[in-house]
Amino acid sequence: MVSAIATDPADLWIRALEKFSERRERRRPPCQYQAEPDWEPRLHSLLGVAWPACLEFQGLWPKIIGSLTASGLQIGPQSFGPWNDGDTGLVRDIWCLTRNLRPAKVVETGVARGLTSRFILEAMECNGTGHLWSIDLPPTNPELQRQVGAAVEDRLRDRGSYIRGSSRRHLPGLLHELGQIDLFLHDSLHSERNVRFELDRAWGRCGQAAPRSSTISMRTGASIRSRKPFPAIHL
Ligand SMILES: C[S@@+](CC[C@H](N)C(=O)[O-])C[C@H]1O[C@@H](n2cnc3c(N)ncnc32)[C@H](O)[C@@H]1O
Repeated sequence: MVSAIATDPADLWIRALEKFSERRERRRPPCQYQAEPDWEPRLHSLLGVAWPACLEFQGLWPKIIGSLTASGLQIGPQSFGPWNDGDTGLVRDIWCLTRNLRPAKVVETGVARGLTSRFILEAMECNGTGHLWSIDLPPTNPELQRQVGAAVEDRLRDRGSYIRGSSRRHLPGLLHELGQIDLFLHDSLHSERNVRFELDRAWGRCGQAAPRSSTISMRTGASIRSRKPFPAIHL
């Protein structure tokens, strides 16, 4: 914690503010959102691809999880401090979007061990095109910090840029620099305050030039206790 104060007082302040507002949000009743059981066929139909598709994913997922587990990491819910690793549904979704939309510019928030990062980068490798910018405020625990991005192999690193710090500090400037982006993934802090901040900024940058080839993907959680709708996400 002392080293975090010494190196990054702005992010320390942001961490405290986010924690405070997350606690306040938790006093509200949880949002009773309904899961869409047929989200995957619907996603494929929106993308105009046959279902089932993305069969390469089925071989890649156990291979990558197996190698991380063999290296001594425990992968799954709440195994990275209080955070979840990307689960198979989220990662399959982002794989499918990256393979089929063939995005040139992808921005994600929230890296942890880097499961979404790894699969976005692998999909870009298969496509032969694309660059990923990942914004991440890692936990203060030094052991967890050592594990950040563990899933991303060196051979993929040229396609990715890691930006250390909060999305509140770095997302606006990055989006300004990139202009239009093709795909945005929210997977950082799931408080309504933070999700809204990220989506409000990313939404305006997605699809200005080519609306149908741009999209937003996000992981929501019981922590989102929102009464106001989010921007039109049709899935
Ligand atoms: C759910 S985990 C990310 C999981 C990852 N996408 C994966 O596929 O394994 C969330 C990560 O976001 C980071 N984080 C928390 N608050 C953040 C913020 N305000 N901005 C950016 N990253 C944040 C956490 O430290 C954590 O590593």
